[in-house]
Amino acid sequence: MELIEWSDKYLVGYDEIDNQHKGLVIMINELFTFMTEGKSKENLEIIFDHLTVYTKEHFSNEEKMMLKYDYPDYEQHKLEHVKFIERLNSFKSDFENNKITISLELLNFLKDWLLNHIVITDKKYMPLLEKNRYE
Ligand code: FEO
Repeated sequence: MELIEWSDKYLVGYDEIDNQHKGLVIMINELFTFMTEGKSKENLEIIFDHLTVYTKEHFSNEEKMMLKYDYPDYEQHKLEHVKFIERLNSFKSDFENNKITISLELLNFLKDWLLNHIVITDKKYMPLLEKNRYE
């Protein structure tokens, strides 16, 4: 069983971004699988590190795309990214220092944040992408 089931309702219509979102979903699902299988802390740490690095890369790519098209809500969108990276870094540090474990509560937080962010915040730039597709 997967924690997140990908659906086309999460597509933003820009292949590079959609593939990165799918990659993030795969990593959260992998963390869920590893947690339920009782994999070692080292194994979970590797996936969590990948998730953190990949999330930063995705945000950076998305921000470049928004700047390229002069997206008016860029600053507000970027602020959401910055806050989430702060949360991820904090989880990562707490996990490495044995203050927290990878729990269902943590994974549900990651899942809810990502899906809400895609559906509410990322999708707001869809008209801009659509407009620039034909220019
Ligand atoms: Fe796809 Fe704004 O993150």
